[in-house]
Amino acid sequence: MNTYGAAFRVTVFGSSHGPGIGCVVDGCPAGVEMAQEAVQKDLDRRRPSPGIGTPRAEEDLVQMQSGVHEGRTTGAPIQMYIENRDRDSSKYAAFKRTPRPGHADYPALVKYGPGHDIRGGGQFSGRMTAPLVAAGSVAKSLLATKGIRFAAYTRSIGKVADEEDRRLEEVLDNVYSRPTRAASDELDARMRAEVLAAKEDGDSVGGVVRCLVEGLPVGVGEPFFDTLDGELAKLLFAIPAVKGVEFGSGFGASRTRGSENNDVYQFQEGRVRTSTNHAGGVLGGMSNGMPLDLRVAFKPTASIPKAQRTVDLGTGKEAMLKIEGRHDPCIVPRAVVVVEAVSALAIADLMIRGGYIARTC
Ligand SMILES: Cc1cc2nc3c(=O)[nH]c(=O)nc-3n(C[C@H](O)[C@H](O)[C@H](O)COP(=O)(O)O)c2cc1C
Repeated sequence: MNTYGAAFRVTVFGSSHGPGIGCVVDGCPAGVEMAQEAVQKDLDRRRPSPGIGTPRAEEDLVQMQSGVHEGRTTGAPIQMYIENRDRDSSKYAAFKRTPRPGHADYPALVKYGPGHDIRGGGQFSGRMTAPLVAAGSVAKSLLATKGIRFAAYTRSIGKVADEEDRRLEEVLDNVYSRPTRAASDELDARMRAEVLAAKEDGDSVGGVVRCLVEGLPVGVGEPFFDTLDGELAKLLFAIPAVKGVEFGSGFGASRTRGSENNDVYQFQEGRVRTSTNHAGGVLGGMSNGMPLDLRVAFKPTASIPKAQRTVDLGTGKEAMLKIEGRHDPCIVPRAVVVVEAVSALAIADLMIRGGYIARTC
C-alpha cells in the first residue's frame, strides 16, 4: 500500500510524469515548529548534483497545504504537494514493448496491464522519494524537539569506500556541500571520478549510504513484528534501488565470535553505555542508548545508455535496447537525504506509539 505507520501515518500519492506528487502526514502532534523552508531545504538536497547528475532544471517546490498554521503544526493532517514541472515522457512509451532490464517495467506491465502509467517509471520512479523526503523532514522536526539528530552520508560509490568510523558531528550538514555527499573532499573527488568513469562508458554505479541517529531514548521499538530494526528495514527497502540494509557490524557479525561481537557495558558520566557499537544501537528490536548506525546498499541505476538485450513483447523476439533520457549514472548522492527521511518516519511512528512523544508538544 502507499500508506505507512500506525500513529505517525504517511500516505504518498502521484506519479513521476502526472500533474504532481505529494504526501499526507497524519498524526503529527500539535505545536511543533514547522517551516516550509526546512522541508524545501531537504528537497533541494535530493536534487541531482552538478557535473555527476542529470540536468533536471526545475527545482521541486513544495506547497504546504494544510496542518501548519503560523509556523506550527496544528495536529491536523499535513498535506504537501509538489508540481511536476519539467517532464519529458517521450522516451518511455517504448518500454511497454521492450521493458528495461533492471527496472520495474516488466513486472508492473504484467501486474497492472497495458494501462500501467510507465511515463518516467510511474509510481516506481525514484521521483516518488521526493514526497518521502518532505514527510521525513516533518518527522525530523518533530524528533528534534526530543533532541534526536540524523546524519547520513555516502560511504562508498563503486569501488571507492570510506573506511573511517565517522562521528555524527563530522558529517552533519556539511556533506551536502559535496556533489557525492562524501565525508571528505578527497573522497568526494575519488567518488566523482568513479561516477564519471561509468558515465563515460554509458554505464552506472551503485554504492552505500550510512546513517547515524543520536539522542534516541532506550527502549524505542515494539515486540514482536514492529521492532526498531524491522520497521527501519521495511521503510529503507521502500526506497527504489535498495538491495541491502545492515545494522552495526551487520553481516560481518556472522564471521566473529561472541566475545568479539558483544558490546560490553560500562558507565560513562553516570549513564550505561557500551564500549563498542557492533549492535548498531539496537538490541532485541529496541534502541539501547547507543547511536543508531545503519548502512544501505544501492544498486547501480538500471536505465543506462549502453545497449542491452531485452525482449520485444510485440514480436515475441529478443531485441536490443538503448535507453535515452535523463538518468543519473549514480543515484547514491540523491538517496542520502532519502535514507535520513525514511529513518525519521519509522522512528517518529514508534516513538509516538511507545508513548515517548505526547499529542501536543
Ligand atoms: C533518488 C532516486 C532516483 C532514481 N533515479 C533513477 C533513474 O533516473 N533511472 C533509473 O533507472 N532508476 C532510478 N532509480 C531507481 C529505480 O526507481 C528502481 O531501480 C526501480 O524502480 C526498480 O526497483 P528496484 O531497483 O528496487 O527493484 C532511482 C532511485 C532513487 C532512490
